[in-house]
Amino acid sequence: MKPIQVGLLGIGVVGSGTFNVLQRNQNEIERRAGRGIEITMVADLDTARARAAVGPNVTVVNDARAVIANPDIDIVIELIGGYGIAKTLVLEAVAAGKHVVTANKALLAVHGTEIFAAASAKGVMVAFEAAVAGGIPIIKALREGLTANRIEWIAGIINGTTNFILSEMRSKGLDFDVVLKEAQRLGYAEADPTFDIEGVDAAHKATIMSAIAFGIPVQFDKAYVEGITKLSSQDIKYAEQLGYRIKLLGIAKRRPEGIELRVHPSLVPSKRLIANVEGAMNAVMVQGDAVGTTLYYGKGAGSEPTASAVIADLVDITRLHTADAAQRVPHLAFQPNAMSDLRILPMADVVTSYYLRLRVADQTGVLAKVTGILADADISIDAVLQREADEVSGEEANQTDLIILTHDCAEARMDAALARMQSLPTVLQSIVRIRKEELA
Ligand code: HSE
Repeated sequence: MKPIQVGLLGIGVVGSGTFNVLQRNQNEIERRAGRGIEITMVADLDTARARAAVGPNVTVVNDARAVIANPDIDIVIELIGGYGIAKTLVLEAVAAGKHVVTANKALLAVHGTEIFAAASAKGVMVAFEAAVAGGIPIIKALREGLTANRIEWIAGIINGTTNFILSEMRSKGLDFDVVLKEAQRLGYAEADPTFDIEGVDAAHKATIMSAIAFGIPVQFDKAYVEGITKLSSQDIKYAEQLGYRIKLLGIAKRRPEGIELRVHPSLVPSKRLIANVEGAMNAVMVQGDAVGTTLYYGKGAGSEPTASAVIADLVDITRLHTADAAQRVPHLAFQPNAMSDLRILPMADVVTSYYLRLRVADQTGVLAKVTGILADADISIDAVLQREADEVSGEEANQTDLIILTHDCAEARMDAALARMQSLPTVLQSIVRIRKEELA
């Protein structure tokens, strides 16, 4: 049978990785797919770069629409990224009857509903394994491997840049700004790292996972997003003394009232495997009612790890493209007519436990006042630690850090208690609040 022909839009790091791995492993891949898979056309504005990456036997153009218009192309890979031209081109490829493989988490988290509807109407597949956690086959696991389960929650380290920064802050005791610069120097963080450090990239991925875990539409606009820019190495140190590490987690959790969808720094017990995922690595925990807790670990970015996911999608499509569309795995794991309307809960309704750090005057009765406010709010304390703050001296020497771990309570209740504590004259700085997930 003639090889399936693939057109590639955008040949940067992941595109060239995809080309190279397809070439290197073509026999293995063909034995699995039942048919050869060849990238025969590449579009990139930088045609010289594209030519250098793919050699003389591939058609190189600077116009993505020439790829979409080519009747010989069966599958289009979109590796341009972003919500702009990438969206137009994906919709045009779908309209032209092409199957699409994309690594574009931003596009799917924001416009997935429109794109999947267009693909279903046209009877084509839009595959996106590479959009979440790079080389980890988490989409496959959620959509197929765990299909027997009622998924209860997902918690993932799904941004390598921030995990690298947090790991360095913890192991070297360095501040965020210092480590960010180092991460940029080493190529772990981009020149404009905003999407990574502000949690947006992780929220895109959490949004996609929430949709396929619970059969709800992608709703990035309802996700709570908080990055790591305000974390201090002091809190990382205190957390460690209490037996926790701080990780940027993407969390999607089913509750009777709705779905929690949130990205923020979280204390995680150091004894959990996921707390020990360090550097730029990713890991995702999934809790299913039948299977229990599962954990998926690997590289969340990079040329060949991401290519591994892109090619897995190419193989899936190659096997399934002649199948009746109704027999294929639905884009969001659940049949389009069986989607749930469970709402995404506002942050005020989220239930979690907390780490609080208060810089207080070291005076009689301060602890009693603080714990009294928590008791009034019916917030139960799990642990308390008092530490002489490292950097205080002279006039400030009569200050101390009060660190409190709480049990679960609704965020709205904690917000109200925090406001009361903050107004105490003996609380001298803004209170630090970091959420805590036991992941038990
Ligand atoms: N910038 C992402 C990360 C990789 O740091 O994990 C692509 O999503």
